[in-house]
Amino acid sequence: MRALVTGGGGFLGSALARRLRERGDEVRVFGRGSYPELEAVGIDCVRGDLGDASAVGAACEDRDVVFHAAAKVGLWGRYRDYFAANVTGTKNVLRACAEHGVRKLVFTGSPSVVFDGTDVEGWNESAPYPRTFDSHYSRTKAESEAMVLASNHDKLATVSLRPHLVWGPGDRHLLPRMVAKARSGRLFRIGAHSKRVDTIYIDDAVEAHILAAVQLSPLSELAGNAYFLSAGDPRPVWEIVDRMLAAAGLPPVRRSVPVGLALAAARICEASWGLLGLAGEPPLTGFLVRQLTTAHWFDIAAARRDLAWSPRVGIEEGMERLAQWIRATRPFDP
Ligand SMILES: NC(=O)c1ccc[n+]([C@@H]2O[C@H](COP(=O)([O-])OP(=O)(O)OC[C@H]3O[C@@H](n4cnc5c(N)ncnc54)[C@H](OP(=O)(O)O)[C@@H]3O)[C@@H](O)[C@H]2O)c1
Repeated sequence: MRALVTGGGGFLGSALARRLRERGDEVRVFGRGSYPELEAVGIDCVRGDLGDASAVGAACEDRDVVFHAAAKVGLWGRYRDYFAANVTGTKNVLRACAEHGVRKLVFTGSPSVVFDGTDVEGWNESAPYPRTFDSHYSRTKAESEAMVLASNHDKLATVSLRPHLVWGPGDRHLLPRMVAKARSGRLFRIGAHSKRVDTIYIDDAVEAHILAAVQLSPLSELAGNAYFLSAGDPRPVWEIVDRMLAAAGLPPVRRSVPVGLALAAARICEASWGLLGLAGEPPLTGFLVRQLTTAHWFDIAAARRDLAWSPRVGIEEGMERLAQWIRATRPFDP
């Protein structure tokens, strides 16, 4: 395939770009940074912002497939910044695909688009978007996904993959934050219960993207659909946290705070950051508290059936690989 990976410098995007390259595909990535480690393995790196329609257009030239993995992620930021990257950026990608005759678009969506603040247990893709969203991220991911799926037609086949909590070597968000909080003594369990969440190891998420691209065509089962992706093995959320900390050589989280107190602290943090315009992300947000205190696991039968995909890396094996990667690359050393 002649592939473009937007967000190819990110966690998921770079793992996908490398795997495509290993398969022998011709790979271009698009992002705002420079990625010498990708160039070193023969990947063409194009620098640009998703908001720049002509830069996105140039990146889509002569591609068979576009993997649109770039997005503004995270827990905090202005709505207009999320909208610019996730909604306007996706519009630019769709327009560029049409202009340059790209036949397939694999969009990286997010399961957070169905999150309504309650326990999500075994939901499948029939779950609707909620009436209101509790983060700019989920709202703009839902809006962009809806555009992508509505753009599926006989010239451009589209699909959205919704991986839940991607983890593994190369993680730039979840693990570094957790390690930093644990080291500074600011990591607490929230509430008395550990609700179950499902996660996905990076290689399994990558494999699903590639299978989707290979099989996607206007007549395929996948076209115009969204799919949840996870390991299909929900575990108590604090078990996952403790296992990740163990992989980084850190002790488990023992101290806990009641949910009500965590929500009150989150409200104070959000108000202070909002009013004072403090830099960076607040240490706690309502979205994070709700994510850590509600169940989140999905029915992945549709992805297994339509993508002919199944998760291969279990939690135990993945954690061992993660620990090896941390020992080899020491990403958290000062
Ligand atoms: N990680 C997860 O658990 C998870 C779960 C569900 C869905 N997802 C989805 O998976 C995708 C990848 O996420 P990730 O975890 O790999 O995050 P990531 O490491 O932050 O990657 C996102 C990439 O998007 C690029 N990007 C952001 N804004 C851009 C802009 N305005 N113009 C050009 N590029 C821009 C960034 O590149 P530069 O900063 O270098 O420009 C970055 O490399 C996202 O679509 C996310 O919504 C992730």
